[in-house]
Parts: sequence; structure tokens; C-alpha cells
Amino acid sequence: MTKTILRALAGETLPTPPIWMMRQAGRYLPEYKATRAEAGDFLSLCYNPELATEVTLQPIRRYGFDAAILFADILLVPQALGADLWFVTGEGPRLSTITTQADFDKLKPLADIHETLNPVYETVRILSRELPSETTLIGFAGAPWTVATYMIAGRGTPDQGPAHALREESNALFEALLDRITEATIDYLLMQIEAGAEVVKIFDSWAGSLKGDDFRKYALEPARKITAALKAKHPSIPVIGFPREAGDGYIGFAKATGVDCVALDNSVSPEWAAANVQVDGCVQGNLASRHMVTGGQELVDETRAIVKAFSNGPHIFNLGHGITPDADPENVQLMIDTVRNG
Ligand code: CP3
Repeated sequence: MTKTILRALAGETLPTPPIWMMRQAGRYLPEYKATRAEAGDFLSLCYNPELATEVTLQPIRRYGFDAAILFADILLVPQALGADLWFVTGEGPRLSTITTQADFDKLKPLADIHETLNPVYETVRILSRELPSETTLIGFAGAPWTVATYMIAGRGTPDQGPAHALREESNALFEALLDRITEATIDYLLMQIEAGAEVVKIFDSWAGSLKGDDFRKYALEPARKITAALKAKHPSIPVIGFPREAGDGYIGFAKATGVDCVALDNSVSPEWAAANVQVDGCVQGNLASRHMVTGGQELVDETRAIVKAFSNGPHIFNLGHGITPDADPENVQLMIDTVRNG
């Protein structure tokens, strides 16, 4: 029996959509917090294959999701390329910045990234042995634009201002950085696939701030390049693209990039997305994460509405973005029960 997520990704319309959740291993779960404390800090957890395996499996044990997503972070690629990376509690990531040619020239050659990333491949290998036979293993990486926004600014930014400034003022350097990240991402995802990832997802969390021709050049084109390179070696491995807040940019995204599935954020209505995006193939999404905090009848109604809107085509149920630390684990169960039992 083929796994449900792989059937949906192959274009099958299933009576009940398979389900997993962005950030399903995370701080809303007491068992995650305990393992993270054991690891010491977030990055030590990412680079410890036994503990990263443990936190990946925790939401599978608790809820029986149809997919497990590798526990790691999109910012491990910049670190592997030579950027300094640390996390400030309560604030988020900090990195050394890349704003000049001299900064760029200090990055490590591609062949050296695996030194840093080897523990991640080991996590994938252990997971592919330990996961239940019905659970799909998803690997991932950040999309080049999103990763570049952190590498340029040295932190998360509300409007990606520093990255847009470099794009305008030093376009050749900006494009060289995007190309380097694209190449590293291809190698990184190929290694995850060779270690046992059955699907890969490309997170372009800040795609929404690219407009017009910039969206085409810096969101569509890198996703197309990465997908083509992966498919050249592993044609049967499905790719999920997540150009978050792309709005009208979701239309035709799968065709333009070759991805097998488009993940939708919750700023688009499921009815609109069914008519404009799902017509080209599988979609994933798109319940607002706040329902995992607020729960109740609103959660049930909204979950049912999403399942119904996407019921005439291939669909994987998910949130529109990651679950937040203030979520109630019981609301996650309520969402799953509603998807599975109507
Ligand atoms: O989804 C999963 O469960 C898999 C693991 C995963 C993490 N980050 C773990 C994580 C995945 C797929 C990511 C992707 C990621 N990381 C993205 C793209 C998706 C998105 O959310 O838009 C981005 C932009 C990052 C970068 C990042 N990592 C930020 C901005 C932060 C700080 C914000 C926050 O939520 O704390 C992180 C930290 C992070 N990555 C945590 C987890 C579980 C929390 C760290 C902790 O335990 O303190």
C-alpha cells in the first residue's frame, strides 16, 4: 500500500486528506521542551542525530500524523557555508552578515558544506529505519531568497529591507549569493534524499515580498532550478513548494517550477485556491495557526470548510504556517479528529 501522502502527491483525490503540521515538533509540546533541555540548546538539538530523531518522532507517537518532517532548520545551510549562527532566546536567529564582496568571498566552497551537515543526514537515516511503515519522511531546505534574507540582514526582518537593498544596489553580488545558496541547497537536498527522505519541501517564507519580475527571477527560477536538479537524479521524489504569501503568485507556480505540490498560507481562501491552484495538482494547507491556540467550534468549522473546499482534488491538510509555542496540544487533536472523522 502506497503511503497516503505519496498518493496525494501523485495526484490522487483521497476520501480523507492525509495530514501533518508545520513545526509539529516544537515548543507547544512538553516532551519537545524536555528533549531540547537535554540537548542544551536548539542548534545542539539539530546536530544531535539521536535527539533530533526523538523530537521528530514525538508528534508521530502523540498524534499519528501521516508524515514526519526532519527536525533541523533552514539556517543550517548558511552555517554550513561558513556564516556564524546563534539563537537569542525570545528573539530568534542571529547570523554574521553578507553585504560586501569580501564577506561573500569568505564563504566556504560547496564541497565543504557536508562537514557541518553530516549529522542531519544521519538523522534522516535513523528516521527512515524507525518511522512507522505508513508514515512519510519529509526532508526540507529554505528557498534561496528566504535564506538570503537572513544571511544579508543577519536576522529576521519584517520587510526583508536589507535583502531588497542589496538586490537593488549590488545586484551582481546579490545574484551570486542566491546562486551559491541554490547550489548548496541542491547538494543538501540530494544528500537528504539519498539518506532516505521520501519527499522534500522548499520553504520560501518571505516570497511574498518579491513582486512582479523579482518574484519570477528570485522565487520561481531558484525553485525551478532546484526541482529540476533533484528530478534529474531522483525523478520519483515529490517536491513541495511553499512560496508563502505569494497571493496571485500561487497561480501557475507548480507549472512554472515543476513542483508536485503547492503549500498555501492562510491568507488565501480555500475556495479561491481550489479554483486557481489545485486545478494544476496537489495543494497543501491552509488552516490559520491561531486556531491551535483558540480551538473550539471555530476550529472545527474552519477545518471542515477547508477539507470541503479541496475535496475534489489532491490535498494534504496542514496549517498555513508553523504552529506557535502558545498552542494547546488538545486543539491539535481536535483538528486531526475533525479531518479524519468529519
Ligand atoms: O516543521 C518542523 O517541525 C521541522 C523543523 C523546522 C524548524 N524550522 C524547527 C525550528 C523547520 C521546517 C523550520 C523551518 C524554518 N526555520 C523556517 C521556514 C518556515 C517558517 O517558519 O517560515 C524559517 C524562516 C526558519 C528560521 C527560524 N528558525 C526562525 C526565524 C526561528 C525563530 C523563531 C521561532 O519560532 O522561535 C527558528 C527556530 C526554530 N526552528 C524552532 C524550531 C522548533 C524553535 C527553536 C526553539 O526550540 O527554541
